[in-house]
Amino acid sequence: DSDKYIDTLIGKMTLSEKVGQMTQLTLEMVSKGDGYKMKSPHELDEAKLEDVLLRHHIGSILNCAGTPHTIEKWGGIINKIQEVAMKDRLQIPVLYGIDAIHGANYTIGATLYPQEIGLAASWNLELVEQAAALTAYETRASGIPWTFSPTLDLAVNPEWPRVWESFGEDPHLMAEMGVAMTKGFQGDDVAQKDRIAACLKHFVGYGAPKSGKDRSPAWIPERMMREYFLPPFQAAIDAGAKSIMINSGEVNGVPVHASKWLLTDILRDEMGFEGVAVTDWFDIWNLVERHAVAKDKRQAVKMAIDAGVDMSMVPLDLDFGPILISLVEDGEISMERIDLSVRRILKMKQELGLFENYKVVPGDYPAFASKKHQQVAFDLAAESITLLKNEAGFLPISKKSKILLCGPNANSMRPLNGGWSYSWQGDVTDQYAQEYHTIYEAFVNKFGKKNINLIEGVSYDMAASYDVDQWVNPEEITKAAEAVDYIVLCLGENSYTEKPGDLNDLSISANQRALAKVASATGKPVILVLTAGRPRVIHDIVSDIPAVLHTYLPGNYGADALSEILTGEVNPSGKLPYTYPRYTNDLVPYYHKVSEGLAHNDGNEYTEPFFNPQWEFGYGLSYTQFEYSNLEISSASMSRNGSLKITVEVKNVGKRAGKEVVQLYLSDLVATVSPSVKRLKRFQKIDLQPGASEKVVFKLEEKDLAFVGIDQQWVAETGTFKVCIGGESTQFELVESIK
Ligand code: IFM
Repeated sequence: DSDKYIDTLIGKMTLSEKVGQMTQLTLEMVSKGDGYKMKSPHELDEAKLEDVLLRHHIGSILNCAGTPHTIEKWGGIINKIQEVAMKDRLQIPVLYGIDAIHGANYTIGATLYPQEIGLAASWNLELVEQAAALTAYETRASGIPWTFSPTLDLAVNPEWPRVWESFGEDPHLMAEMGVAMTKGFQGDDVAQKDRIAACLKHFVGYGAPKSGKDRSPAWIPERMMREYFLPPFQAAIDAGAKSIMINSGEVNGVPVHASKWLLTDILRDEMGFEGVAVTDWFDIWNLVERHAVAKDKRQAVKMAIDAGVDMSMVPLDLDFGPILISLVEDGEISMERIDLSVRRILKMKQELGLFENYKVVPGDYPAFASKKHQQVAFDLAAESITLLKNEAGFLPISKKSKILLCGPNANSMRPLNGGWSYSWQGDVTDQYAQEYHTIYEAFVNKFGKKNINLIEGVSYDMAASYDVDQWVNPEEITKAAEAVDYIVLCLGENSYTEKPGDLNDLSISANQRALAKVASATGKPVILVLTAGRPRVIHDIVSDIPAVLHTYLPGNYGADALSEILTGEVNPSGKLPYTYPRYTNDLVPYYHKVSEGLAHNDGNEYTEPFFNPQWEFGYGLSYTQFEYSNLEISSASMSRNGSLKITVEVKNVGKRAGKEVVQLYLSDLVATVSPSVKRLKRFQKIDLQPGASEKVVFKLEEKDLAFVGIDQQWVAETGTFKVCIGGESTQFELVESIK
């Protein structure tokens, strides 16, 4: 059987072959080019390949070349790597990994979906699962069986530059989305030729940097860790996720790569994870200088292996193997410990079917980048774009409208796709790309060229930094506004990945705010389109603007979806997956403590509550209206092992068909740990024709009422709970038992 096969293989392996399996190198290490810069166009280097695969027996490679490829050419690169690996004594195929985080490798013209934050804003689990399945298909089509996705970092600090790679701030929404993605990638049998292994990242606490800066330390009390940060990972582990990647940062002063508590005691012993734990980029070496917990590479390797690392994403040198070998030879690390990791890695290769099918067959993937895949990308963009303001039913607008299109995001694909699309995953080229449109191009298609005037007004200065933009020409805008019905202002962020996205100010940039003032001063109605991967503060410009749409990073078809929302062909149904702050110094999530939301009550004249975001988590408007009624609860009390049925009727009382996200929030009114104002517990997206209504039924159990108490254990305390759905509310009691 399969375990026996792996055990027999391990029995034949030398120590050097074993540590080779635990090593992951970047593609540069087997490619032509000087130093770590690959030759362009990309070419494998036979000599390096043989050294890496046959002398060092390296088990895993990651990344792609930054030049365009056809799917056949890229598949050829992977096949060549596998052919060389198969020349090795034990014929173990390479486990190739890539960041297919919003679609497969773009250099081969794959379909790009909205980034994760947009997927979360769609609140549509079926569509998200479908997008992950199509990403799996296109990733496998290029010969790659492993993606470093989904990201399950709870983004509790909106300044963090990787908010857009996550599903936002809520653990329940994140857990549901993470499970949908994991199932979509892996299916029922990950060995199928259209499935890939998921990698949950970055375990754990990465999205809570105290400073807001990437990879800076997080301080997370154990109770919060267990109640908020671990559950999304647990849900995806329970759904069968094959691997996890470790958080590069520190939690409570300990780098996670050196934390036995997190990587073994919690991840393995408590959470039951049996798959592969891979480091992030360079992170064993980072234990030396960046974290200063190890005096040299040898001590760093020992720490990481003792903590529970299986595979080192080294990725740019061959030091890891020899150091690990000498640690074993000196008796500092046992052979059993090595075998544990090697077994997990070989098992993953086996589950992926790599031992039989290590090569990709060109032509086996006829649906690659097909219209069907593009349609799913469009649908997800259409369902994620969130209407945040629409004064007096100002939107939608007529297809005959004359529009002045302004802002640095008006005519560029970069902000629509965001990071991991153009640089790390390769440069964009039209040669192999599918047809896609910038906002300007999509508007020209929708409203006609003569009706669209493009004056960006402000442009990004990429040479300086992604967040620096240059003022262009206010007078031109004022004059051009005279000839149009509306100004559509495309503001937000240019694309960035990781550290370069660090911010010193969450406000939208000064020049963009100035542009908004110029646009508003023209007297023409302004529609603000926010294309950004996190909630950039806009409170000083938004009061003059009647309509606001947040697109997040909607992918290749985001601009087309936006244009159909503006004209009303698509009714918006996205809801915020994060709290949109009003002020840069008020960055609390929606599930803050009761005490954080209270207005002053000390006799002073303060009227503004302490929690006063621009827009709340879960908020988003539609062109129709939904009425909630008849909130019913199956019983006024629930016993510990019982359950409750909660029913609500939702009616579309407007004139257009529309989708609504029905959200159930629970409040524990009194608890031994000061409770949150409310917590999302259930949601369902429904589709209603005008005049139609639907009864939505949710079930709650004791575990939905529980929190992590002062002794770090989950506990549900008897007492009163309040349920809120769409403005309707009711209460029930949790009792020990019903007499
Ligand atoms: O998967 C990524 C991770 O999110 C950030 N560092 C590099 C990894 C591999 O590309």
